[in-house]
Amino acid sequence: MATIKKKALVIGAGTGGYPCAIRLAQLGVDTMIVEKDKPGGVCLNVGCIPSKALISATKLYHKAQHSASMGITFQGAAVDMKAMQTWKAGIVKKLTTGVQGLVKSNGATYVNGTAEFIGPRSVRIKYADGRPADVVEAENIVIATGSLPIEIPGFKVDQKRILDSTGALDLDYIPQRMLCIGGGIIGLELGQTFQRAGTKLVVLEGLERILNGVDKECADVVARQIKKDGGEIHLKAKAIGWEERGGAIVVKAEIGGEVQEFETDVVLVAVGRRPITQGLNIEKSGVKVGPRGFIPVDQRKQTNVPGIFAVGDVVGQPMLAHKASHEGEVVAEVIAGKKAIDDARCIPNIVFTEPEIAAVGLTAEEAEAAGHKVSIGKMPFAVSGRAMAIGETNGFVKVITDAADARVLGIHIVGPEASDLISEGALAIEMGAFAEDIALTVHPHPTLGEAVMEAAKHAIGEAVHIMNARKSAH
Ligand code: NAI
Repeated sequence: MATIKKKALVIGAGTGGYPCAIRLAQLGVDTMIVEKDKPGGVCLNVGCIPSKALISATKLYHKAQHSASMGITFQGAAVDMKAMQTWKAGIVKKLTTGVQGLVKSNGATYVNGTAEFIGPRSVRIKYADGRPADVVEAENIVIATGSLPIEIPGFKVDQKRILDSTGALDLDYIPQRMLCIGGGIIGLELGQTFQRAGTKLVVLEGLERILNGVDKECADVVARQIKKDGGEIHLKAKAIGWEERGGAIVVKAEIGGEVQEFETDVVLVAVGRRPITQGLNIEKSGVKVGPRGFIPVDQRKQTNVPGIFAVGDVVGQPMLAHKASHEGEVVAEVIAGKKAIDDARCIPNIVFTEPEIAAVGLTAEEAEAAGHKVSIGKMPFAVSGRAMAIGETNGFVKVITDAADARVLGIHIVGPEASDLISEGALAIEMGAFAEDIALTVHPHPTLGEAVMEAAKHAIGEAVHIMNARKSAH
């Protein structure tokens, strides 16, 4: 066992860890990154990327079947899940190999092994290839270990019939029926993926609404689409267990005080994720862990132990890849001696449902609770020429402004390409923009982006393509 000295050690090569290691190396810091599994973490291997591949593929299939009004009919359109999985695996491989290459070519050392603390600045690394372990003594350590799906009693995941997101993303057939426990982001993104390919979808959500935390009106558009496509959503529903009956799975759920049964072929458990700190021997580092397993950090992402930082899912909500990457890059600058803090004004939130939902900043309810009198501008895609021309008119853009000065407080989009449209909203909030800033920015025609401009104009009574609810101040 050798002792290796490093200026920085990053534990975990997911979307928090690998950008941190790359940035550290770019800043001239002698860095090692250790990963026990494959590079890229959940996002690249079993999360964002593979799910978006399957989502776009079944979306294409669904659209092919619903394009008759555009004058196009497809004969014999079919889904070959095995081929789709091969295609998806190719994308994942390309990206994960790219990550490892980027880390190395920027000058950081990439190691495949498991890290555990043996002291505040000492970490033992057990290599995946079985060679003798080493100890790394690092001046700075970044914990970027991510999160895991939460399991619920009575639904032990076997990845055959009771699936978590990882198992659902690997299905190489289209189940006839799928029951999702949890009407959150994962349940609906993956549930709709299979629904579009022909699966009968049933969603059991414990709360009074799906997609809690997302603008309710946006979530309602997705709920209507799920039902229109033949799915069911049961609210205030608590799954209590399952049994096998005649080869099928029968799930029992308590809904409004009564026990109901649902027959299905597979169950997707998507009730949230929990941070990963176990196995790290974290108590040896002196780092405090919060009650729900998250690691408390300050604005520099430093834990209670100077020189030990944490980024990504392990520090708390929102558990999003882009938040993790941003935090990782901030930490790299801090370690390199720059005066950096994480002062992002907003973290965009995207739900890749049909239609997509994307949001930045406050909802109207949150803005009112924070003491703002709000003025809301809204532009439905039903009157957007571009949305009509691509045959995707379901949804709207909603701009929340402060009624006093028209500062943009939040933007919520449900509709086509919402995920790409929202970056303009993120920039608006980051720059402290007013509705006029968006309204006076010339947007190209004919594009979906014009809907963002028109919604901003609507908030100040200057919309041209829809009736204004209020008079222009000018
Ligand atoms: P989630 O927190 O989005 O939704 C879980 C849902 O399950 C909640 O609505 C909750 O009320 C419900 N629930 C909990 N226990 C239940 C029970 N026993 N019976 C019925 N319903 C129950 O969590 P999800 O969907 O698992 O996603 C985990 C995380 O992954 C999210 O926090 C999100 O940040 C991240 N993610 C982000 C994506 C994106 O950015 N597009 C995509 C996928 C995941």
